[in-house]
Amino acid sequence: MVGSGQMGGGIAQVCATASFETITHDLFLTRDNPKLGLGAIRARLQRQVDQGRLAAADLDRAMANLSDTTDLADLAGCDLIIEAVVERLDDKAAIFRTLDGQCGPQTIFASNTSSISITELAAQTKRPDRVLGLHFFNPPPVMKLIEMVRGLTTSDETFATCRSLAERLGKTPIVSQDRAGFIVNYLLMPFLLDAIRAYENGLATKEDIDAGMVYGCNHPMGPLTLADFVGLDTCYYIAQVLFEEFKEPRYAPPPLLKRMVLAGRLGRKSGKGFYDY
Ligand code: 3HC
Repeated sequence: MVGSGQMGGGIAQVCATASFETITHDLFLTRDNPKLGLGAIRARLQRQVDQGRLAAADLDRAMANLSDTTDLADLAGCDLIIEAVVERLDDKAAIFRTLDGQCGPQTIFASNTSSISITELAAQTKRPDRVLGLHFFNPPPVMKLIEMVRGLTTSDETFATCRSLAERLGKTPIVSQDRAGFIVNYLLMPFLLDAIRAYENGLATKEDIDAGMVYGCNHPMGPLTLADFVGLDTCYYIAQVLFEEFKEPRYAPPPLLKRMVLAGRLGRKSGKGFYDY
């Protein structure tokens, strides 16, 4: 795993509990940080042990499959590298270029991107046939879906290997062509952005907008709560990529979203978004 934030840490947990030896990379070691990466994984698994839902031996087994590093070169021998860093093309492209110079030819590169073109990421490397999208959902240990994204250059063999991996992780794979937002965010983002616009335009309180979708449509979270949960910076970056690709007003980031991101109100992870945490 490259990146051990809320997605990377969750994906590493899924891999390690499915018996895959997993190395997490970040700019700092996460083993002693209860909020990130390995530290957060241990804390989540410990909660399950305390509640009697997981055997202590299974926690030990999962943790034994995990290690962390600050050096990308330590991933050189991996069969698969999943990148889950910030949703910005330049950051992801730089990581793919570096890894391409360090890894053997067998290594498959996957991105957990929500919206960025897999074909463009593949073009950063000399292995464009071994690059694809593996898009997990938040929180990865709970959500059943993996969106598999095939770039123009992804080979059938790479795709088949990763489909069987998705199944071994206990997930349900769906397949999307390489278009901004793929399947889920193509549909989900306009909904979240419309909820922000409705709030911005004074249609109703944030609580009532959320309650409308929770009690009226049985959504587990209202859209403003979900936007806070995903991260308002991530929503903003995804909206920008979608708008850039399709030029449709429904994907344009609402002015309020942009200002909240500029003010550092990123949702749950920063302690303040539409709600306080
Ligand atoms: N990490 C890991 N596990 C978590 C978690 C987290 N951050 N938050 C909750 N969980 C686990 C709990 O441990 C619990 O597990 P258990 O069933 O084994 O006990 C389970 O989730 C349910 O948790 P709770 O009972 O505390 O809470 P809820 O019943 O309210 O469920 C929720 C929490 C699963 C997050 C639920 O509210 C939900 O499904 N929300 C919608 C999530 C969603 O839509 N995600 C997709 C976002 S879009 C995306 O990710 C794509 C990106 O590209 C934008």
